Order: sequence, then C-alpha cells, then structure tokens
Amino acid sequence: MALPNKPVGELKADVNPEVEEREVDILIVGGGMAACGAAFEIKKWAGDKKILLVDKAAMERSGAVAQGLSAINTYIGENTPDDYVRMVRNDLMGIVREDLIFDLGTHVDDSVHLFEEWGLPVWKKSEEGKNLDGKRGLKMGTLKSGAKPVRTGKWQIMINGESYKRIVAEAAKLALGEDNILERVFIVELLLDANVENQIAGAVGFSVRENKVYIIKAKTMMVACGGAVNIYMPRSVGEGKGRAWYPVWNAGSTYYLCMKVGAELSMMENRFTPARFKDGYGPVGAWFLLFKAKALNGLGEAYVASDAAKAELERYAPYGTAAITPTCLRNHLMLFEMKEGRGPIIMDTVTALAELGKTMDKKELKHLESEAWEDFLDMTCGQANLWCATNTEPEKKNSEIMPTEPYLLGSHSGCCGMWVSGPDYDWVPDDYKWGDAGKVYNRMTTVKGLFTAGDGVGCSGHKFSSGSHAEGRMAAKQMARYVRDHADFTPTLAQSTEELVNLVYKPVKLYYENYQYTTAEDINPAYIKPSGMALRLMKATNEYGGGWATYYQTSDKMLEIVMDMLAVMREDIEKLAAGDLHELMRAWEISHRIWTVEAHLRHIQFRKETRYPGFYYNADHPGQDDANWFCFTNSKYDPKAGTWECFKRDYHKIIPD
Ligand code: FAD
Ligand code: ADX
Repeated sequence: MALPNKPVGELKADVNPEVEEREVDILIVGGGMAACGAAFEIKKWAGDKKILLVDKAAMERSGAVAQGLSAINTYIGENTPDDYVRMVRNDLMGIVREDLIFDLGTHVDDSVHLFEEWGLPVWKKSEEGKNLDGKRGLKMGTLKSGAKPVRTGKWQIMINGESYKRIVAEAAKLALGEDNILERVFIVELLLDANVENQIAGAVGFSVRENKVYIIKAKTMMVACGGAVNIYMPRSVGEGKGRAWYPVWNAGSTYYLCMKVGAELSMMENRFTPARFKDGYGPVGAWFLLFKAKALNGLGEAYVASDAAKAELERYAPYGTAAITPTCLRNHLMLFEMKEGRGPIIMDTVTALAELGKTMDKKELKHLESEAWEDFLDMTCGQANLWCATNTEPEKKNSEIMPTEPYLLGSHSGCCGMWVSGPDYDWVPDDYKWGDAGKVYNRMTTVKGLFTAGDGVGCSGHKFSSGSHAEGRMAAKQMARYVRDHADFTPTLAQSTEELVNLVYKPVKLYYENYQYTTAEDINPAYIKPSGMALRLMKATNEYGGGWATYYQTSDKMLEIVMDMLAVMREDIEKLAAGDLHELMRAWEISHRIWTVEAHLRHIQFRKETRYPGFYYNADHPGQDDANWFCFTNSKYDPKAGTWECFKRDYHKIIPD
C-alpha cells in the first residue's frame, strides 16, 4: 500500500529502525512495466501462493513510463516475429539472443491489446487513411477487432499516452491486490540461501517514508528495477542536473542486485546514448518517423544523404548499408559531422510541418501542430516547457538535437543485462536454456529461482514498454512453475536480522556518530555524503569512461585509470552517511550505480573492438573485429571470493537473413 506524500522537508532517519519480516513464495521487485506485467499475470497461475510486489516509488508514476509515452514502439501486428528478430539484430550490430527476441515477438501484441482494453487510447487510421487520435480513434474499434493503428515506423504505433502508466498500474494492482504490494520500499540487497548453493532466498530493503527495514524471504523472485541513469555526467549541470532522459528512479539496481549474488551479466558494454532534442531530452522518433523531419548539419545540409556519410556507413556493412541504419550508427554520423566542424545538428521541424500541411485544411493543420506539442507533453513535458521558455514554435523555428550522456538498459535501443535462459523449444540451442533439476525456466538468470524482465534481460533490446510488460508476464508464469516444482524448499537466510539491519542502516549510524564533529554537516572527516559521491562518479566516467566530454571515446589507458578510481570509490562507499531517509536512498542508489558502471567499463575493457560506434569508441581498438569478437561478452562476480571474471559465450544465428 502506498504511504501518503511526505510533509515539507525530509524525514529524519532513526538509528533504531523498526523491522518487518515477511515470508512469501514469490517476490516481484520493481513496479514498472515488467513488474506490472508480472503482477497482472501471476495470480492466474499461482493464485494460492503468497505473492508480494515491492516498488521503491508509487506504481502509478514509477519507472520509465512515469510521464507517459506517445507511442508503443513494439507492436508486431501485420509483421512477423522473424522479421522482428531481423530488425533487432540489425539495430544491435548483429550479436543478439534470437530465441529471446522471437519469443517476445510472439507474445507482445497481447499486452498491447490489454492496454487498449484497459482504456489506453490508440490512434487509428480512418477508412480514408487519415489519422484519428483520442476519442475519434475509438470509433474505429479496437486493434483486436481489426482496426488499423497509425504506424509511425514498421513497428511503432501512436497512442494518447499521458496516463499510460496509471492505466497499466491500475490493472496490476487490481489483479494482485493492494495488500500484496509495498510501495516506497527500496530493495538494497538480494540474499542467497544458507543451505542450497546458488539459490535465491530473499531480499532486504527499507521504507523511504518510515524508519523501517524489510527482510523478505522468498522461494523465487523477479528483479525488474529498470536500467541505469545518472551514471554519467549529464550535459546540464546546476539547475539542469536533475534532468535526465531515462527515469531518475532507475539506479542500476537490477544489475547490481543480480550481479552481487553471482548472476551472469551479458553485453554490459552495450549502452544507449540517445540522440535527443537538446537540453530537454525530447525523443526524436515521432519527428523522424511520423512527421518525416530531416536532420540537418550546421550548414543546413541533410548530411545523412551525403557521399561522406555513405562512405562512413560502408565501413560498418552489412549494418551500415542496411535499409534502416542502426541507432548507434545514426549517432555516429551526427558525431562525425560535429567533429568535422559542421555542427550543430538541427531537426528541421519547420520544413517537415510545412510539407505535411500542404494537403491539410486549416483545422487539420492546427491539429497537426497540437500533435507536435502533444508528442512531448505526453512523455517528456520538460521539452515542451523548454520550447515555451525559448519561444520555439516548431512550425517557425527549428530545434537542435544532440547525443546525450550514456544510459544502461536492455529494453529500449540497448541490450545490456542479465544472461537468462531462453524458452524450452527444440530449436533453441542447448547453451541458451537452463533451469534446475532437468527443467528449463524461461527468463531465469544463472542464479536458481532468480528471474528478470524488461531492462534486466540482456542481448535482446527493442522490447520497449509493451515488450517489457509482456516479458514480465512471461517471467511470472515461469515463477509460478518454479514455486510449484520447489514446494519442498524453505528459504533460509545466512545473515541474522541484526546483521541485515546494520547493513541497511550503516549510513545512518555513521552520520549520527559523527555529524556533530563539524559545523557544516556535509563536510566531515569521518564520512562522505551521497551527493558528493554522485558528482565524483559522474566526473570520472565522463572524463575516462567515454562520456560526452571526450565525444564518447575511451582507451585502454583511460579505462585503466577509471578502474582505479572505481576501486577507490567502492572502498569509500563504506563511508557514506545519511541523516534522513531520502539521503539513505541516495546512499544506496550511488552504491548501485558505482557497481553497475564498473561492470559496464569492465566489459568495454574486455571487448577489444568498437562494436557500437556512436554509442562508444575504444581508441585502441577502433572498428569491428568479427573474427575474434562476434560473440557475447559475459561476466560474473563471485560473491564468496569477491572477484570478477569476464569471458566469451557463443552466438548462434537462428533466423536466416
Ligand atoms: P521501468 O518501467 O523503468 O520500471 C522500473 C521499476 O523499478 C520502477 O517501478 C522503479 O520505481 C523500480 N525500482 C528501481 N529500483 C528499485 C529498487 N532498488 N527497489 C525497488 N524498486 C525499484 N517505450 C515505448 O514503447 N514507446 C515509447 O515511446 C517510449 N518512449 C520512452 C520515452 C522515455 C522518456 C523513456 C524514459 C522511456 C521510453 N520507452 C518507450 C521505454 C519504456 O518506457 C521502457 O522500455 C520500459 O518502461 C522498461 O520497463 P522496466 O519494467 O524494465 O523498467
Ligand atoms: S522513445 O521511445 O524515447 O520515443 P525514440 O524517439 O528514440 O525513443 O524512438 C522511438 C522509435 O523510433 C524507436 O523504435 C526507434 O528505434 C525508432 N526511431 C527513432 N529514430 C529513427 C530513425 N531515424 N529511423 C528509424 N527508426 C527510428
């Protein structure tokens, strides 16, 4: 159940928090699209079991869909799952798990149909081929009944999605029951079983609204805490520092929590460096695909069609020469122009709207202009604010676009995450599927009983909101199977209650033991505050780990330097201090971020090639080296030994070109 908003000011932390211990069969960590999918599905398969969902925020507005969205980017519709695999494979430069992508492609539309049934307005095509949004679209019937969506690209459909997350969360809450949900509870660590090797047994966390620690035992769980944001310095500092493209809640917890109990990570070198409307992070998809806008360089040239751009793309054939240029290479071309002195890059909104307006009457034209605003108001309202603040009317004034700071995610146009089992079909290669006691559990990590979905599943991007929801539902069914197959298992924790409370509240204790030593409580020889640590991390990654400071370029030497810095940071996070509950959350978030970005940089260091030009460059290993690196790069942290290991895993081509 959600606790009300807090009163003015932060809630003081107490060195002696209350402790609540729970024991459930199935635990869902996260409250975003994947978790809502799992919450909606799970009772159908495990209604007699004890289930609990824990979200660090309030589900109606948590995660990447918090502000709403203006498109559903994965709807298969008239296309085929095989083609979906081809699209994802091309966009992610060849190395993907085709079993996971195909499997998702066969399920995703069902989630989209549910969203519509729950009240999400989906734009429709009229019989005359006109776009009908909102209530006008409803008149054409539902997608399930055969109505045609408004396709922007081959895979994307337009929605009026400001309330998308509220709609999806409401269905999840109704299905699971409010009593089985804890909101505003941050999960800090996962816990392995004391008796069964490599078996998940629980999680520990705390309330960000009460001085309370939660210790939860579970037989199986899904961790779906989204991707990682604010691991690199954003371009805006000071008043703009709080702005980011991906949601601020997502601090890499998925990767941290799973890796800390020894789950294998895959393709953590992959990142998403999105090209966005400068400073407001407005997405570009609708402009490129729906409004057919062109990107221009500073000289006013449509640079993508130039001979220089074509030659540049040919270096990365077959991806560079494919019908749709992969996302990283689109960025690469932008950076190429900027480095040649032909920046900045400009979205030509003026020409695009004028072209579309040619066949429209006055009323239709007005509607088109409002659609341009709504695209941002539905999902990134800060960009609409920025347009107002800078007197930008898109039909009269163009806007700059710019690659942002890097993000880590597995559901959007990136593919880092956990190495999970695929489905149990005969066409799935043996090394792509595993489980326990001879049974295969789809979407299970390499830790027994630990599942993930959405941004958590690696090697299979382009799921987006709909695919993440569908994947959560798929994982839910597998957890139901797992819990039935392991009816005799009783989770046992290795740590005492006292040890766990001391672990979670360590920053609070450190703060109260020392804060009176200095007059300025943020500066103290005995501790570090999370805000300072966040700046330290972002400066280090930005300068040495391929942030925007160096046009996303790093090198073997720079990686060596940043690795040393991260090792010191990992020592120093033991000295994080928190005086209030918000700060306690910040302390744990920064710990999750440091470990996550270290995994990212370890992978970049291991992969001796530049697989994703435009997302990052390793100056010592430019270009792609298919002979040695057309494989997955995986890593594993050993929780007992405290050591990391990076290694290769084979890629299998399942769907022919
Ligand atoms: P999320 O939905 O982000 O959920 C993560 C959840 O984990 C949240 O509830 C969070 O509160 C919780 N959490 C995090 N850490 C913890 C912790 N330690 N303990 C407990 N809970 C925790 N997709 C489309 O289909 N179309 C679009 O147009 C589109 N546009 C986008 C625009 C923007 C600006 C953004 C940010 C995303 C967009 N996406 C779009 C992508 C889509 O939103 C994501 O693919 C999807 O939300 C990922 O789902 P998830 O469940 O993995 O993560
Ligand atoms: S959003 O999800 O935050 O809106 P974005 O604007 O990058 O993301 O992209 C939305 C969809 O459009 C994604 O499916 C993306 O792959 C696709 N897309 C964006 N720009 C282009 C482009 N220039 N060409 C082809 N597809 C694109």
